[in-house]
Amino acid sequence: MSKTYFIRTFGCQMNEHDSERMAGLLEVQGYRPASAVEKADVVILNTCAIRENADNRLYGNLGWLKPAKEDRPDMKIVVGGCLAEKDRDLIVEKAPWVDVVFGTRNIEALPQLLRQVEAQGIPVVEFHETLEMFPSALPARRGSKFHAWIAVQYGCNNSCTFCIVPSVRGVEVSRPIEHILEEVSDVAADGVVEVTLLGQNVNSYGRDIYRTPKFAELLRAMDEVSGLRRVRYTSPHPKDFREPVARAMAETSVVCEHLHLPVQSGSSRVLKSMKRSYNRDRYLAKVSMARDLIPGLAITTDIIVGFPGETEEDFLETLSLVEEVGYDSSYMFQYSPRPGTEAAVMDDQVPKDVVQERFERLTAVQEQISHRKNQDSIGSEVEVLVEGPSKKDPGKVTGRTRTNKLVHFAGPAEPGEFRQVRIKQAAPHHLEA
Ligand code: 5AD
Ligand code: SF4
Repeated sequence: MSKTYFIRTFGCQMNEHDSERMAGLLEVQGYRPASAVEKADVVILNTCAIRENADNRLYGNLGWLKPAKEDRPDMKIVVGGCLAEKDRDLIVEKAPWVDVVFGTRNIEALPQLLRQVEAQGIPVVEFHETLEMFPSALPARRGSKFHAWIAVQYGCNNSCTFCIVPSVRGVEVSRPIEHILEEVSDVAADGVVEVTLLGQNVNSYGRDIYRTPKFAELLRAMDEVSGLRRVRYTSPHPKDFREPVARAMAETSVVCEHLHLPVQSGSSRVLKSMKRSYNRDRYLAKVSMARDLIPGLAITTDIIVGFPGETEEDFLETLSLVEEVGYDSSYMFQYSPRPGTEAAVMDDQVPKDVVQERFERLTAVQEQISHRKNQDSIGSEVEVLVEGPSKKDPGKVTGRTRTNKLVHFAGPAEPGEFRQVRIKQAAPHHLEA
């Protein structure tokens, strides 16, 4: 009987992407997906380090896996991803029942590391400081038949003072445009209709290999891929988001009318202390530029509440920016100090109860805006890409609009099918058609 694996993925889409490569590598070795974690021969936790609760979740999961490992000593427990990069040897110190700890820049080593632990019987911890091989070059087992994650760039050269990513994922490395196009054409030939281009800072895509950013060219090239219907991308950095990219979004038919532009704060003072390299006005100017060029554009964002030194006035500026932009939705986070980052040692850390209270106020404001925006779309006809049965109501199916809104409607319809539907009802986080 073939051996089985189970992968639990935390964090962002880049980790989803990497997990698909880990699965692909194992399948080439003859492994099959396990029906449950406890039954798997290999359990992989692909971790995230962005906020403290991500750390807690890893150690919680490891604690939970300990009795399973005691029951079945042959089970191999593997920890990869960003928290593995951050904690390294600490993981086997805290949880000696872990077998393999490896990084985000040596994913290709997984099968060999498993053989090594099998042969030696002691934990193996291995990391690479540079990226020698793009995980994109590895076989993938994709979670979806109609959508694919496509990495265009690994690492990040920015130095936002709150962020741990540059220290765990290293410097920016772009993939050559031909390789990306080849991968996109291949998946499109296999029936994929939607791709999401991934990078930590996609607007600087190409700078390291072409000396000049080429993200706009990359978007335009997507229009030529036969069979491809939708292109999304994440995340751009507002400082590098410029007209050529907005024009490319407007002038291509495949690139969706959705811009995720993480603002982090509405206060120029806080933005400066975050080292974001833009201020409130410059950010707002980028939003206007994008809206002027791209009709029907949906805009979403990331916001951190309670960054060190954030005063009530600073926070009110965030609230007013959220109102002014009128985001379709926001991902809101409570600031979490990350060891090794500049912000973690700043004075004036904001007390937890203050952060919580601001977070709730912000959530309430965004909720109203999202609801209002969704209500505005009642009566309109939209194209939906079907994802599958609705989780809430099995009689319905769920899909997404080009602007990335969730729509539930009466089926039947198969995952990967496009449907034209008319919006009948609106809630803050979804639409009914
Ligand atoms: N605390 C809270 N949120 C953070 N993010 C990044 N680092 C932190 C942190 N230390 C948020 C940012 C980023 C998103 C992916 O996670 O908003 O855009
Ligand atoms: Fe988490 Fe950032 Fe790593 Fe993604 S890149 S998994 S968000 S730490």
